Amino acid sequence: MLVGVIGSGAREHAIASALARTADVILIPGNPAMEAATAEGFSIRCEDLDPELLGENSEIDLVVIGPEAPLVDGLADRLRAGGKPVFGPGADGAQLEGSKAFMKDLAERAGVPSARYGVFTDLGAAEEFLSTLEGKYVVKTDGLAAGKGVLVTADLDEARADVRDKLSGLSFGEAGRRVIIEEGMTGPEVSLLVLCADGHGVALPPAQDFKRIFDHDEGPNTGGMGAYSPVPVATDEVVAQIMEQIVDPTLRQLVADGIDYRGVLYAGCMLTDEGPKLIEYNIRFGDPEAEVVLPRIKSDFAELCLSVAEGRHITPPVISTDATVCVVMAASNYPATPRTGDRIHGLGKADTVSGVQVFHAGTRTGAAGEVVTAGGRVLCVSARGADLDDARDLAYQAVELISFEGAQFRSDIAQEAVIMTKNNR
Ligand code: AMP
Ligand code: GLY
Repeated sequence: MLVGVIGSGAREHAIASALARTADVILIPGNPAMEAATAEGFSIRCEDLDPELLGENSEIDLVVIGPEAPLVDGLADRLRAGGKPVFGPGADGAQLEGSKAFMKDLAERAGVPSARYGVFTDLGAAEEFLSTLEGKYVVKTDGLAAGKGVLVTADLDEARADVRDKLSGLSFGEAGRRVIIEEGMTGPEVSLLVLCADGHGVALPPAQDFKRIFDHDEGPNTGGMGAYSPVPVATDEVVAQIMEQIVDPTLRQLVADGIDYRGVLYAGCMLTDEGPKLIEYNIRFGDPEAEVVLPRIKSDFAELCLSVAEGRHITPPVISTDATVCVVMAASNYPATPRTGDRIHGLGKADTVSGVQVFHAGTRTGAAGEVVTAGGRVLCVSARGADLDDARDLAYQAVELISFEGAQFRSDIAQEAVIMTKNNR
């Protein structure tokens, strides 16, 4: 099988690596640093093909679309119209991430537990709703904002100012002209990636993401600074609750609304005192969650993606009992205005650490073949070990071997989970 994967970040690198255990992969456009021949005899190569023309490409058996923007833009529909099996929802289902107002409305109709909310284009009405909330205020852009459109604050004045800047178009352009205001929920967060086809969902192992730039969840939100799996607080019972109360009703509602959702549904959940509640849906694999979840899948991932793309009933995959931890290495001054063009040292050495795989998020190859930084999140160093403690040690061993000017990484990824696992023994 030849699979075309659209995208070029660490998530797509992880998707390609999982596929390349049983299939050849073309990353479109990918990044030359991701090219490889795998131990199983398959290859990952990168080509700058036009995604719009893949429907007519007879060599490619399956297309997997990595990022949200082309899905929201209807690329999956156009490729399907050309007869190609595509992993990823059409523009209709992609609204679950493309419009938070759409998502909240669908969740409400499906009876999914989620934060109380209002949708506003008018400043006066928005301020009035804010004044009815207590505790934490949450202000979101309706449209896509690369994971950065959300403010969570206990300061009413800050929330008001944020609403003003969003609605006026000042802070997020068109994406912010409609805002969602929500009550703040509290509790640990869990990301559940669910493969969906034929109106059914099969959960992959849960993961937890670290959204803030600094240790102990301080500083601004980022695209994600690390992740791990499994998650001690997300027991089998909790996962079953999330499926029963959140994901399954959503899938039934999608079917009732005439939406044939084929791809992965990422349920971002908060485990509150009142049980799991939905924070948000994404319509693609999480980044960096994919980098810890996909290495744990033992079944044939390419076949799994093909059965999703063809809308067949999904057989739950076999999951490794190993644990995985990934640590993101970000550029200096990320997330504001990351510095780029710095030479990265030590990649070869890091790759030799047992169980470690370095996924490239924002790199490029310089004139002399050297690898340099080319984005905010630069590398995602992922390690697999017998348990979280082991995986965490290996990931940080590899991180210590890599260096570039101003590199930032969190030193507390999976730390609490390791302590919790030890205490539970
Ligand atoms: P989102 O882009 O909707 O995932 O929001 C980004 C982050 O903001 C989430 O991962 C949560 O940490 C936080 N967040 C979003 N909505 C809420 C809420 N209603 N209550 C508390 N925290 C939230
Ligand atoms: N890790 C957060 C996201 O993928 O949106």
